[in-house]
Amino acid sequence: MRPKVIVNLAMSADGKIALPDRTEVKISGEEDFARVHCLRHEADAILVGSGTVRADDPKLTVKERFIKKPEHPLRVVLDSKGDIPKDARLFDDDNYLIATTVESDDPHWVKCGDGERVDLHELMNELQRRGIKKVMVEGGGEVIHSFFEEDLVDEYNVYVGSLIIGGAKAPTPVDGKGALTKDDIKHLKLVSHTLMDDGVLLKYRVKK
Ligand SMILES: NC(=O)c1ccc[n+]([C@@H]2O[C@H](COP(=O)([O-])OP(=O)(O)OC[C@H]3O[C@@H](n4cnc5c(N)ncnc54)[C@H](OP(=O)(O)O)[C@@H]3O)[C@@H](O)[C@H]2O)c1
Repeated sequence: MRPKVIVNLAMSADGKIALPDRTEVKISGEEDFARVHCLRHEADAILVGSGTVRADDPKLTVKERFIKKPEHPLRVVLDSKGDIPKDARLFDDDNYLIATTVESDDPHWVKCGDGERVDLHELMNELQRRGIKKVMVEGGGEVIHSFFEEDLVDEYNVYVGSLIIGGAKAPTPVDGKGALTKDDIKHLKLVSHTLMDDGVLLKYRVKK
């Protein structure tokens, strides 16, 4: 069975996840950070796209402030050409995997497909082979769109912060080309809503 995929992100009350120039914005607070780090800790892998690494340079680890002596999940980045900066913070230790479309002898690289972008089904097979059962997808909008497009999302968690970012070009939780026809729309079932910090966490199951 392929790994379970949980998408988790934070957006503003107007559905934006960063400034129009892709600069990161603090959208939630301590309570939500604690929840995110617990979710990371429960996952076997955390996955982001190269765009998020370039924009935010995240560490993608579990903070000891939230979980004592954490076991850090595998950090996976989708980087088709394998050209994200090697001083990115997610490379701080050896526990990472770069999913690409190019051959390499580097044991941290895995080639998934021959297309322009990483083939997500091949990547899921590879992660399954490595014993990964739960993957947390943390963004950004392009990557989340691809996971929905390939029908690979099981759960969608979105924290809605009490702020407006605005701007037609500011990234949203699910970017890409979006639904072009009504048949392309993805349907969700709201599972829970929880007030947290000064916002609300919405948890959805994706209808298959
Ligand atoms: N608020 C939040 O919760 C949150 C969380 C994360 C990110 N963000 C924000 O999101 C923004 C970055 O999002 P983004 O959409 O620009 O970038 P992204 O989704 O992180 O990465 C997209 C890139 O991943 C690579 N990629 C490889 N295979 C792919 C595939 N199958 N599908 C999609 N992408 C694939 C492509 O680049 P290559 O061709 O170079 O491989 C693509 O351009 C930043 O502004 C960041 O601050 C917000």
